[in-house]
Amino acid sequence: MKPLLKWAGGKRAIAGELFSNFPADWDTGTYIEPFIGGGAMFLHINPKKAVIADLNKRLINFYTYVKNEPEPIYAKIMDIAKRFNRNSTEILKKEYFLEIRKAFNSSESTSLESAAYLYALNKLCFNGLYRENSRGEFNVPFGQKKIFPALELAEVKNVSLLLRNTKIMNSDFETTTKIAKAGDFIYFDPPYKPVNTSSSFTSYHAVGFDIEDQKRLAELMVDLAKNGLRAMCSNSDTPVSRDIYKELDIRAIRAPRMVSAKASGRGSISELLVTNY
Ligand SMILES: C[S@@+](CC[C@H](N)C(=O)[O-])C[C@H]1O[C@@H](n2cnc3c(N)ncnc32)[C@H](O)[C@@H]1O
Repeated sequence: MKPLLKWAGGKRAIAGELFSNFPADWDTGTYIEPFIGGGAMFLHINPKKAVIADLNKRLINFYTYVKNEPEPIYAKIMDIAKRFNRNSTEILKKEYFLEIRKAFNSSESTSLESAAYLYALNKLCFNGLYRENSRGEFNVPFGQKKIFPALELAEVKNVSLLLRNTKIMNSDFETTTKIAKAGDFIYFDPPYKPVNTSSSFTSYHAVGFDIEDQKRLAELMVDLAKNGLRAMCSNSDTPVSRDIYKELDIRAIRAPRMVSAKASGRGSISELLVTNY
């Protein structure tokens, strides 16, 4: 199933390869994905029972509306799409984008409006990025789109159906894993920078994720193994991350990584696939 959102670090291109490294009986328990982002992996594997989580409350609000109210959120998105497409010039389209951005930033983070605006901004902003300033306001510029990308109600309903047996949490990854039981499988896709832009873990997401967080995650994976819980983690292939995750099983995989919107920014890079089994 195709993700509804584009998200930095999306795993769509390597979902199959990551999946081939899951334990054979990964779906006997609950599938847990504590850094859901665009949800490419979750949608690729179609789990029978799952928990998805993220620290970004507006993203979690979006998934909650897709799960519980697919038709109202679709209708709201279509209203925005029609209004966007009715603007005849690039200047008017940009003005409308800025209007949506302002409305999103002042909307209640648990509202239907916020959920629909998040989708619209994801489609219309530069490169589908999600970035917030220090005041917590979404600040990605207009992506110069001419028309709102097409969306079918069936696409929203399909994701909604899959979310029916999924618990959605707005929490830090450590809290999310507290609900794991023997037989469950956890896939962590934390924020990390692609190696070819920088080798350090500075924040590129709305929510900062630094070396201390990476160490916290590596320790958590070791502890989970001690409690019989299997987990996999993706990361950038740098000496720093190889060192942080050294107590776990590490292998490198090739990943086509889209760094910029232009084809010249694409390229195959090495990524780490870390497991505690
Ligand atoms: C690399 S993205 C996940 C990409 C996603 N798996 C996909 O394929 O599209 C990382 C996500 O982690 C979230 N995040 C950052 N810090 C977090 C934390 N401490 N706990 C949980 N989620 C966090 C971000 O909001 C972001 O959505």
